[in-house]
Parts: sequence; C-alpha cells; structure tokens
Amino acid sequence: MRPGWFPGSGRLCRVASIIRSPLSAVAVRSMSQSQPRAGRPALASWLSTGNSITQQFMAIGGQADFVSLAGGLPAAELYPVEAMAAAQERALTRWGSAILEYGPIEGLPALRAAVAERVSAASGRRFGPENVLLTTGAMQGLDLVGKLLVDPGELIVSQFPTYLGALDAWRPRAPRYEKLDWSLQAPGQDAALRQAKFVYAVPNYSNPTGVLVSQEERAALLDKVLAAGTWLLEDDPYLPLQFDGPAGPGILAHHAQRQPSGAYDGPVIYLGTLSKSLAPGLRVGWIVAEASLIAALALVKQSTDIASSLLTQALALEMIESDFEAQHVPKIVATYRERRDALCAAASEHLSDWFEWEVPPGGMFVWMRAKTPEIDTDALYAHALQEKVAFVPSSVFDPDGALKSAMRVNFTRSAPEVLTEGVRRLARATRRQLEARPGRAA
Ligand SMILES: Cc1ncc(COP(=O)(O)O)c(C=O)c1O
Repeated sequence: MRPGWFPGSGRLCRVASIIRSPLSAVAVRSMSQSQPRAGRPALASWLSTGNSITQQFMAIGGQADFVSLAGGLPAAELYPVEAMAAAQERALTRWGSAILEYGPIEGLPALRAAVAERVSAASGRRFGPENVLLTTGAMQGLDLVGKLLVDPGELIVSQFPTYLGALDAWRPRAPRYEKLDWSLQAPGQDAALRQAKFVYAVPNYSNPTGVLVSQEERAALLDKVLAAGTWLLEDDPYLPLQFDGPAGPGILAHHAQRQPSGAYDGPVIYLGTLSKSLAPGLRVGWIVAEASLIAALALVKQSTDIASSLLTQALALEMIESDFEAQHVPKIVATYRERRDALCAAASEHLSDWFEWEVPPGGMFVWMRAKTPEIDTDALYAHALQEKVAFVPSSVFDPDGALKSAMRVNFTRSAPEVLTEGVRRLARATRRQLEARPGRAA
C-alpha cells in the first residue's frame, strides 16, 4: 500500500477527536454533524437518519497502532497487483481507445456474457447477457434496486440484523422495514411479505452474522415469495469465501430448478461482485434478473452514473478469462480460514465470559452476542477506541438502531497475531465498559 493514500487518511484529525471524546450511543448513530454555512439551504433531511460509522472505521484502518476489526475489507497483501498490471496491459492492447469511452449502460458486452455463463453454470439453467447488468460494485446494485422499486414509506422485508451498506443505500428512499424471520413463523410474516416491495437476504455467510442459511429455509422463503408475488433480492458477495465445504445452491438456483428453461421471469434479483475474490477497488459487480427488470434498472443506472468504468470491466474480463480468479480464490480461502480460527481461538480465551458466537463457515465476520444485558456495544465501542481497537456495534445493523447487544468482528484484514492482540484489547475494553456502567461505584 502506498503511504498516505489509505481511505480516510485525510480524516485523521476527525478520528483523533472521536478517540479523545468517548462516543455516546447517539454519536455512533448520528450522521456527521457537518452543516452548510449559516444562511445556505439545509442538507436533505434523510441525512439526519444516517450514521458515520463507515467513515470512522475507514479512517481508523489507516492508523499504524490501531487494530481494526471493523471494516469488511479483504487482506490487502493478497491483492493480485502483478496479475492486474498484466491484465490491464492486455486489456488496453485488446480494446485500444474503445475501452476509454463511455461504455454501454448495461456494461461491457463480453463481461455481461461471461457473468451470464458463470451464473448459468452455478444455477443449472440458461441466463443470457440480457439478464445481466454490470454495476459499480454490488453496492450500486443495492442502490439501483432501491431507486427502482421503493417509494417513501414502502416496505422492505429484510433479514435482521441487516447489512449496513444496504440500509445506507436505501436511506434516501425512506422505506419501512419488517424483519425477515427465516422460520417464516413470526406473526404477520405472510402479510408483510404480501405488502413488501422486496425481501432482502444474504444467505451465504451473511453480513453481519456470518450465517449460512440452510437449503430448507431458502426453499421455504422462495415458496413464500412466489405466493406473496413480491421480489427477492439475493445479495451474494461472500459466495467465494467457503471455508468448511460448499455453500450449496443459492436462492436463484432454487428458482432455476423450478423453471429450468425458457426466458427467466422469476422473482429473484441476484447481486454478485468481484470485490471479495479479486479486489474491491475494481468496483465490478452485477445484477442478474429477468430481462425486463434489467432494462428498467439500466434506465435507473443511466441517471446514476451513465455507465460503470469500461476499463475496470475489461480488466475484470481478463482476470476471469485467464482463469486467474479460479486459481486465486483457494489461496485467499486458506488464509482467511486460518485467520478465522485464530480470532475464534483468541476469543475463546479472552472473551467467552461475556460473549457467545458461532464459528462462521465462510465470509469475513464473527458475530459476537453479549451474554449479559449489562454489555451495551455502543458504549463498548467508545471504550474499545480508547484501547485502540475497533469493531462494528450491532446498532448500525438495525434500521431502528435499537440492537445494542452484539458486535461484528472482522478477521480477514489482519494477521493472526494482530487478531489475537485485538481480542485482548476488546477484553480490556469490555472490562472497562462494565466497570463504567451507570450505578456502579467508581
Ligand atoms: C452484504 C454485502 N452486500 C454488498 C456489499 C458491497 O460490495 P461491493 O464491494 O461489490 O460494492 C458488501 C460489501 O462488503 C456486502 O457485505
């Protein structure tokens, strides 16, 4: 990594002030207080419902003496710099100046075809390029789907806790949320599904919980979605990161088994990305869905960014065609498995009096749930920053901000010894939070 560049390095003053002043729950959840100069128009009102946690942990990640277990970042030392340089040269030679143009809104046709092939192979039915929209990361897929489907006050039924980036993407749409209950037994669940514009789920190694949803639950949810006549947004960035055996078919593949041929007209809107298998800086992701929905999403994308970068799409195509991605993924998986095990071993030693968790079979996160209501992870976050360690408190994964009993801990970004040190610091922070809680004698 080149010095001085890391995201947020220009925000270190801000981080220093965060660290000096312990965060209250409110500070964790409320968006940057920045306001325009007096006398100028106010910022849009949805901003006041946001939070600055992502900016905070991106900034923290740039500090040498800090252990950040917060971001959802891959291991930077595994980014394939040389292979990317060679691929970029091949791409520029192959396409010449054409690759420096604005591209087609839907994306580089050859990459659309490659993604269609990949999804066809994984799902066992044919998807064509007309079913694929290339996006600037899966994050843009979330944004475009929200813009296409949701008017203010409309309902999203979402897995709970919910990926923070999805909540961020949909905040300007001002939706209402109902929790998805995977058992589908919760009172009112069927009615909520009937009202919902879409259901949102990350069935493979979910963010933030690391959970791998069972095949039975996937099939049952699909049944309910079909019966309710709504859409199902399947967000699948962690698919490549399988540590303990295969993830099994996704929900799109479940639907493909029911409709194995003909033009795809199912309810599943599938999001994929190269961020976790190659590099997030590529910003190459995709949406797979029925062709008419893809055409509508392309209209939304047109007004969002005209088109994603053709250059990075061409680079991604080279990496896929040369089979580099397929060879690279086993290496990252081996490294991440070792890191997951190191984190969980250290947590068993230092945190198990206060937290419980399941060892995730893939992905990037361990979801630690407090065993005692005296632990408030918003308050713990402030103590953790003072101990120079960061995690993500559960409140930011709750549309209402009320969930204060858990934390998301990342294991992919740091070496095993750093993870162990981070866990020791978390243990010290937990002790401090418990000692400092209201009503305790000093
Ligand atoms: C569940 C989920 N969806 C989407 C994204 C965004 O991925 P991308 O880097 O492709 O924009 C992430 C990133 O961490 C994620 O965890």
